[in-house]
Amino acid sequence: MKGLKQILAATLCVAVVVGTTGCSSSLTGGKRIIRISHAQSETHPEHLGLLKFKEYIEENLGDKFEVQIFPNEILGSAQKAIELTQTGAIDFVVAGTANLETFADVYEIFSMPYLFTSEEAYHEVMNDTDYMNTIYESTDEAGFRVMTWYNAGTRNFYATKPINTPDDLKGLKIRVQQSPASVNMAKAFGAAASPMSFGEVYTAIQQGVIDGAENNELALTNNKHGEVAKYFSYNKHQMVPDMLIANLKLLNGLSDEERAIFEEAARLSTEVELANWDDQAAAAKKIAEEDMGVQFIDVDVQVFKDKVADVQESMLEENPRIQEIYDHIQEVNAKYITEEGAE
Ligand code: GCU
Repeated sequence: MKGLKQILAATLCVAVVVGTTGCSSSLTGGKRIIRISHAQSETHPEHLGLLKFKEYIEENLGDKFEVQIFPNEILGSAQKAIELTQTGAIDFVVAGTANLETFADVYEIFSMPYLFTSEEAYHEVMNDTDYMNTIYESTDEAGFRVMTWYNAGTRNFYATKPINTPDDLKGLKIRVQQSPASVNMAKAFGAAASPMSFGEVYTAIQQGVIDGAENNELALTNNKHGEVAKYFSYNKHQMVPDMLIANLKLLNGLSDEERAIFEEAARLSTEVELANWDDQAAAAKKIAEEDMGVQFIDVDVQVFKDKVADVQESMLEENPRIQEIYDHIQEVNAKYITEEGAE
Protein backbone atom coordinates (compact mmCIF):
# COMPACT_ATOMS: atom_id res chain seq x y z
CA MET A 1 0.00 0.00 0.00
CA LYS A 2 2.86 2.34 0.86
CA GLY A 3 4.41 1.75 -2.56
CA LEU A 4 1.16 2.66 -4.30
CA LYS A 5 0.84 5.79 -2.17
CA GLN A 6 4.34 6.89 -3.07
CA ILE A 7 3.80 6.31 -6.78
CA LEU A 8 0.53 8.24 -6.77
CA ALA A 9 1.96 11.11 -4.74
CA ALA A 10 5.04 11.23 -6.98
CA THR A 11 2.85 11.25 -10.12
CA LEU A 12 0.91 14.19 -8.77
CA CYS A 13 4.09 16.02 -7.82
CA VAL A 14 5.61 15.52 -11.28
CA ALA A 15 2.41 16.91 -12.74
CA VAL A 16 2.78 19.94 -10.49
CA VAL A 17 6.39 20.51 -11.45
CA VAL A 18 5.89 20.18 -15.22
CA GLY A 19 2.46 21.80 -15.40
CA THR A 20 2.45 25.55 -15.87
CA THR A 21 -0.31 26.18 -13.36
CA GLY A 22 0.03 22.96 -11.39
CA CYS A 23 -1.77 19.68 -11.87
CA SER A 24 -4.93 21.15 -10.33
CA SER A 25 -5.56 22.58 -13.78
CA SER A 26 -5.42 19.14 -15.36
CA LEU A 27 -8.02 18.56 -18.02
CA THR A 28 -9.28 15.24 -19.32
CA GLY A 29 -11.49 15.28 -22.37
CA GLY A 30 -11.96 19.01 -21.80
CA LYS A 31 -13.08 18.49 -18.22
CA ARG A 32 -11.35 19.85 -15.18
CA ILE A 33 -10.48 16.94 -12.87
CA ILE A 34 -11.25 17.64 -9.20
CA ARG A 35 -9.22 15.41 -6.89
CA ILE A 36 -10.29 14.73 -3.30
CA SER A 37 -8.14 12.90 -0.76
CA HIS A 38 -9.39 11.32 2.46
CA ALA A 39 -8.20 8.87 5.08
CA GLN A 40 -11.16 6.52 5.38
CA SER A 41 -12.40 3.36 3.68
CA GLU A 42 -14.95 3.32 0.87
CA THR A 43 -17.81 2.33 3.17
CA HIS A 44 -17.16 5.10 5.72
CA PRO A 45 -19.83 7.84 6.05
CA GLU A 46 -17.35 10.42 4.75
CA HIS A 47 -16.82 8.48 1.54
CA LEU A 48 -20.60 8.23 1.11
CA GLY A 49 -20.86 11.98 1.68
CA LEU A 50 -18.17 12.63 -0.91
CA LEU A 51 -19.96 10.41 -3.44
CA LYS A 52 -22.94 12.75 -3.03
CA PHE A 53 -20.61 15.74 -3.51
CA LYS A 54 -19.35 14.16 -6.75
CA GLU A 55 -22.84 13.26 -7.92
CA TYR A 56 -24.24 16.75 -7.37
CA ILE A 57 -21.34 18.53 -9.08
CA GLU A 58 -21.34 16.17 -12.04
CA GLU A 59 -25.14 16.35 -12.36
CA ASN A 60 -25.02 20.14 -12.51
CA LEU A 61 -21.64 20.87 -14.02
CA GLY A 62 -20.77 17.54 -15.63
CA ASP A 63 -19.68 19.16 -18.88
CA LYS A 64 -16.95 21.03 -17.02
CA PHE A 65 -15.90 18.97 -14.01
CA GLU A 66 -15.13 15.36 -13.17
CA VAL A 67 -14.70 14.57 -9.47
CA GLN A 68 -12.26 11.81 -8.42
CA ILE A 69 -12.18 10.55 -4.84
CA PHE A 70 -9.01 8.97 -3.39
CA PRO A 71 -9.74 7.09 -0.10
CA ASN A 72 -7.49 5.32 2.45
CA GLU A 73 -4.74 7.97 2.48
CA ILE A 74 -3.72 6.76 -1.01
CA LEU A 75 -2.41 10.24 -1.71
CA GLY A 76 -0.67 10.51 1.65
CA SER A 77 -1.41 11.22 5.29
CA ALA A 78 -3.78 14.03 6.24
CA GLN A 79 -0.88 16.43 6.74
CA LYS A 80 0.66 15.56 3.39
CA ALA A 81 -2.70 15.84 1.64
CA ILE A 82 -3.32 19.25 3.23
CA GLU A 83 0.00 20.42 1.80
CA LEU A 84 -1.03 19.07 -1.63
CA THR A 85 -4.30 20.98 -1.31
CA GLN A 86 -2.44 24.10 -0.28
CA THR A 87 -0.30 24.09 -3.41
CA GLY A 88 -3.16 23.06 -5.68
CA ALA A 89 -1.64 19.67 -6.55
CA ILE A 90 -5.01 18.32 -5.44
CA ASP A 91 -8.22 20.26 -4.88
CA PHE A 92 -9.82 18.94 -1.70
CA VAL A 93 -8.89 16.96 1.38
CA VAL A 94 -10.91 15.72 4.32
CA ALA A 95 -8.96 16.09 7.55
CA GLY A 96 -9.64 16.55 11.23
CA THR A 97 -9.29 20.03 12.74
CA ALA A 98 -6.30 18.79 14.77
CA ASN A 99 -4.32 18.90 11.51
CA LEU A 100 -5.24 22.54 10.96
CA GLU A 101 -3.86 23.88 14.25
CA THR A 102 -0.44 24.62 12.80
CA PHE A 103 -2.04 26.67 10.00
CA ALA A 104 -4.55 28.61 12.13
CA ASP A 105 -4.37 28.18 15.88
CA VAL A 106 -8.07 28.98 16.38
CA TYR A 107 -8.60 25.31 15.44
CA GLU A 108 -7.01 24.32 18.78
CA ILE A 109 -10.43 24.89 20.28
CA PHE A 110 -11.70 21.53 18.97
CA SER A 111 -8.88 19.64 20.68
CA MET A 112 -9.88 21.04 24.06
CA PRO A 113 -10.98 18.11 26.26
CA TYR A 114 -14.64 18.04 27.23
CA LEU A 115 -15.40 21.20 25.21
CA PHE A 116 -18.88 20.16 24.11
CA THR A 117 -21.12 18.85 26.88
CA SER A 118 -23.57 17.13 24.54
CA GLU A 119 -23.82 15.90 20.96
CA GLU A 120 -26.74 18.29 20.47
CA ALA A 121 -24.57 21.28 21.32
CA TYR A 122 -21.78 19.98 19.08
CA HIS A 123 -24.11 19.59 16.11
CA GLU A 124 -25.77 22.96 16.66
CA VAL A 125 -22.43 24.78 16.70
CA MET A 126 -21.07 22.94 13.68
CA ASN A 127 -24.29 23.26 11.65
CA ASP A 128 -24.36 27.04 12.14
CA THR A 129 -22.66 27.74 8.82
CA ASP A 130 -22.70 31.54 9.16
CA TYR A 131 -20.85 31.34 12.44
CA MET A 132 -18.47 28.61 11.28
CA ASN A 133 -17.56 30.57 8.13
CA THR A 134 -15.79 33.10 10.35
CA ILE A 135 -13.56 30.23 11.50
CA TYR A 136 -13.27 28.67 8.05
CA GLU A 137 -11.79 31.90 6.65
CA SER A 138 -8.88 31.67 9.08
CA THR A 139 -6.73 29.58 6.72
CA ASP A 140 -7.16 31.86 3.67
CA GLU A 141 -3.60 33.09 4.03
CA ALA A 142 -2.39 29.50 3.93
CA GLY A 143 -4.20 29.04 0.60
CA PHE A 144 -7.12 26.84 1.59
CA ARG A 145 -10.63 27.18 3.03
CA VAL A 146 -12.92 24.76 4.85
CA MET A 147 -16.22 24.25 3.01
CA THR A 148 -18.12 22.05 5.43
CA TRP A 149 -17.75 19.71 8.40
CA TYR A 150 -18.28 15.97 8.94
CA ASN A 151 -19.11 14.23 12.19
CA ALA A 152 -16.25 12.11 13.48
CA GLY A 153 -18.06 11.01 16.62
CA THR A 154 -16.65 11.10 20.13
CA ARG A 155 -13.03 10.22 20.83
CA ASN A 156 -12.12 7.65 23.49
CA PHE A 157 -9.01 5.80 24.59
CA TYR A 158 -8.39 2.24 23.45
CA ALA A 159 -5.39 0.06 24.15
CA THR A 160 -3.92 -3.38 24.55
CA LYS A 161 -4.71 -3.12 28.28
CA PRO A 162 -7.94 -2.04 29.96
CA ILE A 163 -8.19 1.63 30.95
CA ASN A 164 -10.69 2.07 33.76
CA THR A 165 -9.39 5.26 35.36
CA PRO A 166 -6.83 7.91 34.32
CA ASP A 167 -4.33 6.10 36.55
CA ASP A 168 -4.33 3.26 34.04
CA LEU A 169 -2.99 5.67 31.42
CA LYS A 170 0.14 6.33 33.44
CA GLY A 171 3.15 5.21 31.43
CA LEU A 172 1.07 4.08 28.43
CA LYS A 173 2.22 5.30 25.03
CA ILE A 174 -0.88 6.63 23.36
CA ARG A 175 -0.99 7.77 19.77
CA VAL A 176 -2.57 11.19 19.31
CA GLN A 177 -3.15 13.28 16.21
CA GLN A 178 -0.27 15.47 15.08
CA SER A 179 -1.46 18.52 16.99
CA PRO A 180 0.16 20.41 19.87
CA ALA A 181 -3.14 20.59 21.77
CA SER A 182 -3.71 16.82 21.48
CA VAL A 183 -0.20 16.13 22.77
CA ASN A 184 -0.84 18.40 25.77
CA MET A 185 -4.18 16.74 26.43
CA ALA A 186 -2.71 13.23 26.48
CA LYS A 187 0.04 14.42 28.83
CA ALA A 188 -2.54 15.99 31.12
CA PHE A 189 -4.25 12.59 31.30
CA GLY A 190 -0.91 11.16 32.43
CA ALA A 191 -0.15 9.24 29.23
CA ALA A 192 2.99 9.42 27.11
CA ALA A 193 1.76 11.12 23.92
CA SER A 194 2.98 9.71 20.66
CA PRO A 195 1.88 11.85 17.69
CA MET A 196 1.81 10.10 14.32
CA SER A 197 -0.36 9.94 11.21
CA PHE A 198 -3.55 7.87 11.25
CA GLY A 199 -2.27 5.33 8.71
CA GLU A 200 0.65 4.37 10.96
CA VAL A 201 -1.44 3.50 14.04
CA TYR A 202 -2.31 -0.14 13.25
CA THR A 203 1.29 -1.26 12.76
CA ALA A 204 2.53 0.81 15.70
CA ILE A 205 0.10 -0.97 18.06
CA GLN A 206 0.80 -4.35 16.47
CA GLN A 207 4.54 -3.93 16.89
CA GLY A 208 4.24 -2.63 20.44
CA VAL A 209 5.66 0.79 19.54
CA ILE A 210 2.58 2.26 21.24
CA ASP A 211 0.08 0.78 23.71
CA GLY A 212 -3.00 2.34 22.24
CA ALA A 213 -4.67 5.33 20.64
CA GLU A 214 -7.83 7.39 20.91
CA ASN A 215 -10.63 7.64 18.40
CA ASN A 216 -14.23 6.76 17.55
CA GLU A 217 -15.67 3.23 17.11
CA LEU A 218 -15.14 3.19 13.34
CA ALA A 219 -11.36 3.19 13.82
CA LEU A 220 -11.74 -0.30 15.30
CA THR A 221 -13.44 -1.74 12.22
CA ASN A 222 -12.80 0.44 9.15
CA ASN A 223 -9.16 0.86 10.12
CA LYS A 224 -8.97 -2.55 11.83
CA HIS A 225 -7.49 -1.21 15.08
CA GLY A 226 -9.79 -3.63 16.94
CA GLU A 227 -7.57 -6.47 15.69
CA VAL A 228 -4.67 -5.17 17.76
CA ALA A 229 -6.28 -3.21 20.63
CA LYS A 230 -8.91 -5.12 22.58
CA TYR A 231 -10.06 -2.58 25.21
CA PHE A 232 -12.06 0.53 24.33
CA SER A 233 -13.01 2.87 27.21
CA TYR A 234 -15.91 5.30 26.85
CA ASN A 235 -14.21 8.26 28.55
CA LYS A 236 -15.45 10.63 25.78
CA HIS A 237 -12.70 13.25 25.92
CA GLN A 238 -13.29 15.04 22.61
CA MET A 239 -15.59 15.57 19.66
CA VAL A 240 -13.18 16.58 16.92
CA PRO A 241 -14.86 17.33 13.59
CA ASP A 242 -13.44 16.47 10.19
CA MET A 243 -13.39 19.18 7.57
CA LEU A 244 -13.77 19.28 3.80
CA ILE A 245 -10.93 21.61 2.84
CA ALA A 246 -10.65 23.25 -0.58
CA ASN A 247 -7.79 24.88 -2.42
CA LEU A 248 -8.69 28.57 -2.27
CA LYS A 249 -7.56 29.43 -5.81
CA LEU A 250 -9.93 26.80 -7.15
CA LEU A 251 -12.83 28.29 -5.18
CA ASN A 252 -11.97 31.85 -6.16
CA GLY A 253 -11.67 30.83 -9.81
CA LEU A 254 -15.24 29.51 -9.96
CA SER A 255 -18.05 31.61 -11.40
CA ASP A 256 -20.79 32.63 -8.94
CA GLU A 257 -23.05 29.93 -10.34
CA GLU A 258 -20.36 27.25 -10.09
CA ARG A 259 -19.43 28.36 -6.60
CA ALA A 260 -23.05 28.05 -5.49
CA ILE A 261 -23.17 24.50 -6.88
CA PHE A 262 -19.94 23.53 -5.07
CA GLU A 263 -21.36 25.03 -1.84
CA GLU A 264 -24.58 23.09 -2.22
CA ALA A 265 -22.66 19.90 -3.01
CA ALA A 266 -20.67 20.39 0.20
CA ARG A 267 -23.84 20.96 2.20
CA LEU A 268 -25.44 17.82 0.75
CA SER A 269 -22.31 15.77 1.45
CA THR A 270 -22.57 16.70 5.13
CA GLU A 271 -26.25 15.78 5.15
CA VAL A 272 -25.42 12.29 3.82
CA GLU A 273 -22.42 11.86 6.14
CA LEU A 274 -24.43 12.80 9.23
CA ALA A 275 -27.34 10.59 8.21
CA ASN A 276 -25.00 7.59 8.10
CA TRP A 277 -22.89 8.28 11.17
CA ASP A 278 -24.95 6.97 14.09
CA ASP A 279 -25.89 3.69 12.43
CA GLN A 280 -22.35 3.04 11.27
CA ALA A 281 -20.88 3.82 14.71
CA ALA A 282 -23.39 1.44 16.34
CA ALA A 283 -22.67 -1.25 13.73
CA ALA A 284 -18.91 -0.81 14.24
CA LYS A 285 -19.33 -1.29 17.97
CA LYS A 286 -21.28 -4.51 17.39
CA ILE A 287 -18.74 -5.90 14.92
CA ALA A 288 -15.81 -4.95 17.16
CA GLU A 289 -17.47 -6.60 20.13
CA GLU A 290 -18.84 -9.75 18.48
CA ASP A 291 -16.36 -10.47 15.70
CA MET A 292 -13.15 -8.89 16.90
CA GLY A 293 -13.45 -9.54 20.62
CA VAL A 294 -13.07 -5.92 21.68
CA GLN A 295 -14.28 -5.19 25.19
CA PHE A 296 -16.09 -1.86 25.62
CA ILE A 297 -15.65 -0.33 29.08
CA ASP A 298 -18.14 2.20 30.48
CA VAL A 299 -15.91 4.26 32.73
CA ASP A 300 -16.80 7.00 35.20
CA VAL A 301 -16.40 9.95 32.81
CA GLN A 302 -16.32 12.48 35.67
CA VAL A 303 -13.03 11.06 36.98
CA PHE A 304 -11.46 11.59 33.55
CA LYS A 305 -12.91 15.12 33.38
CA ASP A 306 -11.47 15.95 36.79
CA LYS A 307 -8.04 14.74 35.73
CA VAL A 308 -7.86 17.38 32.94
CA ALA A 309 -9.91 20.07 34.70
CA ASP A 310 -7.15 22.70 34.36
CA VAL A 311 -6.55 22.19 30.66
CA GLN A 312 -9.40 24.39 29.40
CA GLU A 313 -8.20 27.36 31.42
CA SER A 314 -4.56 26.96 30.50
CA MET A 315 -5.44 26.65 26.80
CA LEU A 316 -7.48 29.86 26.98
CA GLU A 317 -4.61 31.66 28.70
CA GLU A 318 -2.08 30.49 26.16
CA ASN A 319 -4.20 31.20 23.09
CA PRO A 320 -6.60 34.16 23.54
CA ARG A 321 -7.84 33.72 19.94
CA ILE A 322 -9.96 30.78 21.01
CA GLN A 323 -11.78 32.72 23.76
CA GLU A 324 -14.58 34.00 21.54
CA ILE A 325 -15.51 30.62 20.09
CA TYR A 326 -15.12 29.06 23.53
CA ASP A 327 -17.69 31.52 24.94
CA HIS A 328 -19.99 30.88 21.99
CA ILE A 329 -19.81 27.11 22.58
CA GLN A 330 -20.51 27.55 26.29
CA GLU A 331 -23.72 29.44 25.41
CA VAL A 332 -24.83 26.61 23.15
CA ASN A 333 -23.81 24.00 25.75
CA ALA A 334 -26.00 25.76 28.32
CA LYS A 335 -29.11 25.27 26.15
CA TYR A 336 -28.80 21.50 26.37
CA ILE A 337 -27.91 21.08 30.02
CA THR A 338 -30.84 19.38 31.65
CA GLU A 339 -31.62 19.19 35.34
CA GLU A 340 -29.76 15.89 35.55
CA GLY A 341 -26.75 17.48 33.83
CA ALA A 342 -25.57 17.27 30.25
CA GLU A 343 -26.27 14.29 27.96
C1 GCU B 1 -10.77 10.01 12.76
C2 GCU B 1 -11.02 11.17 11.89
C3 GCU B 1 -9.86 11.39 10.93
C4 GCU B 1 -8.57 11.46 11.67
C5 GCU B 1 -8.40 10.27 12.53
C6 GCU B 1 -7.12 10.37 13.35
O1 GCU B 1 -10.82 8.85 12.01
O2 GCU B 1 -12.20 10.96 11.16
O3 GCU B 1 -9.98 12.57 10.23
O4 GCU B 1 -7.52 11.53 10.80
O5 GCU B 1 -9.50 10.12 13.39
O6 GCU B 1 -7.14 10.08 14.53
O7 GCU B 1 -6.09 10.75 12.78
